[in-house]
Amino acid sequence: MKTLMQAPGRVLVAPSILSADFARMGDECRHVLGSVADGGAGADLLHLDVMDGHFVPNLTMGPDMCRGVRRALPEAFLDVHLMVMEPEKFVEPFAKAGANLFTFHIERHQEKAAVALADRIRAAGMLAGIAVNPPSAVEPVLEVAHAFDLVLVMSVNPGFSGQAFIPEVLEKARRIKAILKPTQRLEVDGGVSETTAPKCREAGMDVLVAASAIFGKAPADRAAAVRTLRG
Ligand code: DX5
Ligand code: ZN
Repeated sequence: MKTLMQAPGRVLVAPSILSADFARMGDECRHVLGSVADGGAGADLLHLDVMDGHFVPNLTMGPDMCRGVRRALPEAFLDVHLMVMEPEKFVEPFAKAGANLFTFHIERHQEKAAVALADRIRAAGMLAGIAVNPPSAVEPVLEVAHAFDLVLVMSVNPGFSGQAFIPEVLEKARRIKAILKPTQRLEVDGGVSETTAPKCREAGMDVLVAASAIFGKAPADRAAAVRTLRG
């Protein structure tokens, strides 16, 4: 099992399966995580975007998808991003479905409630992440970041793949990076491409999520896409 802290300091690439072919999900995931020597794309972990049609205007996947991906890829690291009104309802279901990292939004839980939910996520056997949307202030994140394994800076307003990167979030990322310990990760999600990835890496982001920049390419071109994003 790969972990979030495999090779500390190394940039990790996390394909978001939102842009994979849902009818061929097992094969798509095996291919992006497969080693380049074996014809795979060499990505590090999988990102699962869970949307409820309320917190964001789209419906995507739930614990059953996570369980299916876990069954197909017993060794994969599964990074689950909850864009839902009540993430606290889904901690145990995702833990049972094989998730490794459970990230919820600061827009739903702040201060003590966010820290308490992080504790519950760890008690369920997962790592805990906190996400922040582009329009939201950085201060509430700075306040609770110590309690998390990862901070996720959204670089689009979440809901759909294929949106344009919002460069203003880079300053927010720098401020968060300045207070993180070397054992904590800083993830970026939305509009990450070969053009925007270098800026993300410069701002200290070390887990790069990408849907269209990987699954939007032909399978034969995905290894090169992953390599370019990693830098
Ligand atoms: C944004 C989701 C992202 C999304 C990224 O709503 O949280 O993970 O799939 O898609 P791209 O990489 O195409 O912007
Ligand atoms: Zn996401």
